[in-house]
Amino acid sequence: MLLTTLLALCCSTLFAQWGPAPDPFPGKTLKDAYKDYFMIGVAVNRLNVSVPEQAALVRQEFNSMTAENDMKPVSVHPAVGVWHWGAADSIADFARKNGIKLRGHCLCWHSQFADWMFTDKKGRPVKKEVFYQRLREHIHTVVNRYKDVVYAWDVVNEAIADNVRPRFVNGKLEPGTPYRESRHFQLCGDEFIAKAFEFAHEADPNALLFYNDYNECDPGKRDRIYNMVKKMQEAGVPIHGIGMQGHYNIYGPSEEDIDAAITKYAQLVKHIHITELDIRTNTEMGGQLQFSRGEQKPLAPYLQTLQDDQYNRIFKIFRKHKDVIDCVTFWNLGDRDSWLGVNNHPLLFDEQYKPKRSYYAVRDFEATSANATVKEDFVPNPLNQPGQQYPMVNSQGYARFRVVAPDAKSVIVSLGLGGRGGTVLRKDKDGVWTGTTEGPMDPGFHYYHLTIDGGVVNDPGTHNFFGSCRWESGIEIPAPDQDFYQTRMDVAHGNLQQVLFPSASTGEVKRAFVYTPPTYGKLVKGKQQRFPVLYLQHGWGENETSWPLQGCAGIIMDNLIAEGKIQPFIVVMTYGMTNDVKFGHIGEFTAKEFETVLVDELVPYIDKHFLTKPDKWNRAMAGLSMGGMETKLITLRRPEVFGYYGLLSGGQYAPEDIKDPKQVRLIFQSCGSKERPDAIMQSTEALKAAGLPAVGYISEGTAHEFLTWRRSLREMAPLLFKK
Ligand code: XIL
Repeated sequence: MLLTTLLALCCSTLFAQWGPAPDPFPGKTLKDAYKDYFMIGVAVNRLNVSVPEQAALVRQEFNSMTAENDMKPVSVHPAVGVWHWGAADSIADFARKNGIKLRGHCLCWHSQFADWMFTDKKGRPVKKEVFYQRLREHIHTVVNRYKDVVYAWDVVNEAIADNVRPRFVNGKLEPGTPYRESRHFQLCGDEFIAKAFEFAHEADPNALLFYNDYNECDPGKRDRIYNMVKKMQEAGVPIHGIGMQGHYNIYGPSEEDIDAAITKYAQLVKHIHITELDIRTNTEMGGQLQFSRGEQKPLAPYLQTLQDDQYNRIFKIFRKHKDVIDCVTFWNLGDRDSWLGVNNHPLLFDEQYKPKRSYYAVRDFEATSANATVKEDFVPNPLNQPGQQYPMVNSQGYARFRVVAPDAKSVIVSLGLGGRGGTVLRKDKDGVWTGTTEGPMDPGFHYYHLTIDGGVVNDPGTHNFFGSCRWESGIEIPAPDQDFYQTRMDVAHGNLQQVLFPSASTGEVKRAFVYTPPTYGKLVKGKQQRFPVLYLQHGWGENETSWPLQGCAGIIMDNLIAEGKIQPFIVVMTYGMTNDVKFGHIGEFTAKEFETVLVDELVPYIDKHFLTKPDKWNRAMAGLSMGGMETKLITLRRPEVFGYYGLLSGGQYAPEDIKDPKQVRLIFQSCGSKERPDAIMQSTEALKAAGLPAVGYISEGTAHEFLTWRRSLREMAPLLFKK
């Protein structure tokens, strides 16, 4: 149990992107979060309003609804004189009962239409006057039936062409029509649009009437929609609003195109509704009824990140336009209902109606510092490769990335805020991917990597550091106290050397790094000095290079010695054999093999080859994260070897763990304030109350990362080897 908790703690940061995120604001809902912006709607089918759990979710999260299919002509009016109201009525009743606003969808569309309107009993085409008469009766009947509850109608749906193709008419090349060549258009030209709006307005002069279409942000189609609505309005046609369907995907449309479309439509109408929002996880978009139904496999984490990011970006634009946007409707409740098929994963709720990460990205926008001003004082990250400008960092802690990958579809930097899986870069006009973290990062060192089209690679701009069982890219965010881990001209420097020692138990030659202080080997009053030794362990995913490189262990020691804060000692850092532990088998981890390597092989080797004081009161063991777990196991099993213990974000000792209070002279326990500081402080108090020499330390403003451990070493070192 303890082991599992500990490891969960160690790995919570690394694996955050894989688990469902716990709700950071339980009880908060979409409609509440957006109450000062616009309504949040959902397209529903009959089940969504009758299955209790689904109906509860609709009531909880949404204050607007649209019938996905049940108010369409094909559903309510499948044949002349035949009306089917059951499903539509049940949705309308649900809206009435629950005080949820209802949008009507849709009165006139080329698809799912009452196609019988075009032909007579014998199947011969009717004149347009007959068609108008039938359309009028249809619109009047439907609009009247739901007048008390439907406040807005999508009157005409998708009347504009996706592309304009020039064509030959009577042997002459004519510019193509901006209209879709539907049966409606072929019979009536664009007059049917005007007629449909007029009929709806007659039926309910109070209803808001919308023209609704997809690919509405594509600049060409946008302009065609704009020109059509403008022309109709100038002719007195009552079009009050434009419905932007919003069938998007994770790659587009761009923020610029969405923003430009809303801005342009707002010149014509006072009401814009996003009517059918969903974000596919492939490259398809739009409202065409032919599409691939997604691959049958769980959503890859990088696709989820791209989706979260796209939702985040587009809602930012929607919020900016809250004066004209009154309602944003998701097209379906959960992925299971999606018209695109469950494997497109396009919505905020999954196939079990559980909120996805994208739900939090949309709902919790206030939690991000998106509106903060970013200072343009970026400088190259200190860990960059020679001559590289990027990644950059600024004085507030923002990081900025630049990656040249002209043919890539997506580039994600694993560093980011808000549990959204990283920072998604965007391609500029030169094919270069750039992006800045959405807010300041915690100070200190961070590992990261790039995910380019789903493949993990390092950032060629910066150096690599061993973490997550691989060499990861490293970035250093400025810290207020960074001087203590930086090399200084006025300080004498010790020596960091590699030793290769034989390990009979494993049959391998193993490596350790040994820091010896500047005075090591120097005679004092003609005598050889001997030094105490700290055995310092890394965490899971790391190795013996982690403390000397990203941990800055030697530099911290030099600086502490120069400031007179510690008596010089040796630090030995070896590989703790942690990385073979597989997930699911953590409970079986005993550190037994490593105990043999450390205590029976390395300690004697060091005592033989270095000027050590070879006794327990001159020997300490400390470790970070999983290295802390090892420290605890080994110090308790071998109390005769080590006299000082340190757990850095690596759990705690309980008073009853210590069999003899005289066995230990220091129990140092620490973590970052963003970890579980209460656990450290409570445990330290309990140890002290039991008469044990415990010290707790909390690193302010840091999490399970190296600045916490650099600071912990700085705090712990002066307390070691005190008699
Ligand atoms: C879709 C429905 O979701 C599907 O169930 C149905 O089979 C086809 O129509 N644009 C629209 C919506 O305006 O009415 C469409 O709804 C999706 C595209």
